[in-house]
Amino acid sequence: MNWTNNARQVTTCRVCGEQDWQPVVSFGDLPLAGSFLEPAQSYENEPRYPLGVVCCRSCRLMSLTHVVDPAILYRTYPYSKSDSEMMKKHMQHVVEVCQERFAVQPGSFVLEIGSNTGSQLKAFQKASMRTLGIDPAVNIVEVARQRGVETLPDFFSVETAATVAAEYGTPRLILGRHVFAHIDDVTSVLEGVRRLLGPESVFAIEVPYVVDMLEHNEFDTIYHEHLSYFGVGTLVTLFERHGLRVIDAERLPVHGGSILLFAGLRDGAWPTSPVVDELIEQERKFGLDDDATYERFAESIERIRGELVALVRGLRGEGKRIVGYGAPAKGNTLLNACGLGIDEIEFCSDTTEFKQGKVLPGTHIPVCSPQYAATREFDYYLLLAWNYGEEILGKEKAFLGKGGRFILPHPTPSIVPCEP
Ligand code: TMP
Ligand code: ZN
Repeated sequence: MNWTNNARQVTTCRVCGEQDWQPVVSFGDLPLAGSFLEPAQSYENEPRYPLGVVCCRSCRLMSLTHVVDPAILYRTYPYSKSDSEMMKKHMQHVVEVCQERFAVQPGSFVLEIGSNTGSQLKAFQKASMRTLGIDPAVNIVEVARQRGVETLPDFFSVETAATVAAEYGTPRLILGRHVFAHIDDVTSVLEGVRRLLGPESVFAIEVPYVVDMLEHNEFDTIYHEHLSYFGVGTLVTLFERHGLRVIDAERLPVHGGSILLFAGLRDGAWPTSPVVDELIEQERKFGLDDDATYERFAESIERIRGELVALVRGLRGEGKRIVGYGAPAKGNTLLNACGLGIDEIEFCSDTTEFKQGKVLPGTHIPVCSPQYAATREFDYYLLLAWNYGEEILGKEKAFLGKGGRFILPHPTPSIVPCEP
């Protein structure tokens, strides 16, 4: 791979091989959303990479314009220590779907690609399954191992697939939760998956759903790690090219709207659910095949940027104090793309120890603990971790009770509860 300043421009569509791109949006050069910094006097030479999205007119993959070298993005990775209640429930749901719909039994071998700290595999272990994780981030692999989740420190590829086949056998289930959209060389991964699958095996992926992103204007889910924004139709095209057949799919509320998609070998045992074609038809009606849909998305982004900045600066003008809720990766796109910084947001409160005491990339807003936030007086939380919105509003009753309010960035910037 030829990297220029550790990034390369995407020319050929990673799904269909065509080069007919519709430009959608560009945010200019932004720092990596996960590159939290130690506080410093000056932040000169902070690395920045182009961040923008284009859409393939042939297969309708939405892709980043540039890919940053994965060795830079993933060899160490900030992780959240405790999973939210919502995610715990969701991980249990994934286990149950695999058991009920695809008869994954106790004793089955479950392989997870991008297994992070092993929380999902822990849920499979509780259901008496044999598990193996693969994750490239060495710091995360160590945490997973300490939790009793055997994990190989690597990127998944044809080569790692061969190692797994030789040493562990054929997985009944290969899982990739919120990892597939991060992969540039999808060919190598899908080739590896195809070689590892048996006739009854299932490959399940969970990706943010492009329809939800477009419908709810979730443009901050665009950051350097998310290379692809998938619909079901595009995934069917991709999987077919690699000898796999999409057999089922389910829309999920997690992370602003995701899709859990199941595939098997082309001639494998599982029949194709009618849900797959139904979702593709819904995507067509939604306008995924039309340039105009992506043009409208770009216009919405511009509108939201303007409105959010006006709202936040207006409140600051009235002397109101604003703090960020969470310091998620997407918050960095939102803040950097809107040009909001420490003049507007005093600090961000986040439960992740790794982030506390550091500053956000680009904006250099300090990250503090929720315990610190509890000792401070302020009027508004800007809800950066909006994907946990319901859970957060539920547990911030004390803040709401004393008149505190949340600013929601999209689908249209708003304040909850409403201003009197
Ligand atoms: P994620 O969307 O990538 O999971 O990141 C969510 C971030 O928000 C993560 O850094 C943890 C943080 N967070 C809080 O600080 N408080 C909360 O109540 C929740 C649910 C998340
Ligand atoms: Zn394409």
